[in-house]
Amino acid sequence: AYPNLAPKPPMGWNNWSYYMCDINEKVILGNARALVKSGLAAKGYDTVTVDDCWMSKQRDARGNLVPDPARFPRGMAYVGRELHRMGLKFGIYEDVGNLTCEKYPGSFGHYQQDADLFAKWKVDYLKMDGCNLSTAPGKTKERTYHDAYRAVSRALRNTGRDIVFSVSAPAYFQYDGDQVWHQVIRWSSQVGNLWREGRDIAVEKHSGAKKWSSIKYNYAYNAKLAPFQRPGRWNDPDFLLAGDSGLSTRQMQSQMSLWAVMAAPLISSTDLTKISPAALKVLGNRDIIAVDQDPKGVQGRVVQQGTGYDVLSKPLQGGDHAVALFNSGDSAQTLTTTAKAAGLPQARAYELRDLNTGRTTRTAGKISVRVPAHATVLYRVHPRR
Ligand code: DGJ
Repeated sequence: AYPNLAPKPPMGWNNWSYYMCDINEKVILGNARALVKSGLAAKGYDTVTVDDCWMSKQRDARGNLVPDPARFPRGMAYVGRELHRMGLKFGIYEDVGNLTCEKYPGSFGHYQQDADLFAKWKVDYLKMDGCNLSTAPGKTKERTYHDAYRAVSRALRNTGRDIVFSVSAPAYFQYDGDQVWHQVIRWSSQVGNLWREGRDIAVEKHSGAKKWSSIKYNYAYNAKLAPFQRPGRWNDPDFLLAGDSGLSTRQMQSQMSLWAVMAAPLISSTDLTKISPAALKVLGNRDIIAVDQDPKGVQGRVVQQGTGYDVLSKPLQGGDHAVALFNSGDSAQTLTTTAKAAGLPQARAYELRDLNTGRTTRTAGKISVRVPAHATVLYRVHPRR
């Protein structure tokens, strides 16, 4: 298996859902500076990834990838150096096919050459997309992707540099039937550290309603993938949208709480240079980050479900559980579960700390709370012996 370079779910920032192709050195380094200045970097958001569209349309005479000179006049090694100088890690995007999704040169036929170039640029994280990979003659689509991602994985290892490997393959099999996408996730967890699945989360130009339904979709999709997760091998339900237009604070808190209870990568994709204090508070909630990053490394599971609500529970190091009560419906409702249903051991009493408000209450076992529409109450439940 690929080395375990991500013992905790990766955290950081990526430009895609906010800027898409509208990127340049200033956008990337401006957001990197904001990541540091806002305190988010110190809380763990340490990897800045430049997504699609950073390249020129052609490789050079030696076949090397070339940064777009208008967007990145000082090149990508410079971007990496600046990120490292800020104490951040450098992430970059490529694609296993002939072209990236936005039709820039793909890595196909150049896996080792590109891996070596990334290592030379001191890249720390690679997001390898899966657009425009043609099925090889005599192979199935699944075997074609498998062989391609495995080759990239080897190429990265050959560089001798520690590069966290984010595999996009499962997202390209989500409509191909359960058996085949299960297989794709299984090998993704061997060749890489995390893997994109489900749909692309909505982007900034979409409406608030579309963003919210996209968060709900990716949540539900990711929740089903808990059996595929192991410590160090992470399901990736895509970016955190806190800070983007059209989302309420409750919706942002819900996404953050749900991603944390599922031990999902926490990758913000918004304009951090003008993020609101409310959105910053959502992304920067230390207690919720601690649930996500808990050393036990377990994805929480749905323990109860009904019309318009889900209850999830995630076992934490030391015996506490994180319990999320998610009201996906459009009106407030009282959600009720028990410590037992959430998988907690028998105890005299339980302390419930609401990680969004900081308030602590106590219960003999029943966990019941009024949850506003679109909100998630996330408790850290501590058994008192
Ligand atoms: C599809 C991916 O899923 C997105 O996150 C983004 O990387 C785009 N491709 C870029 O073309």
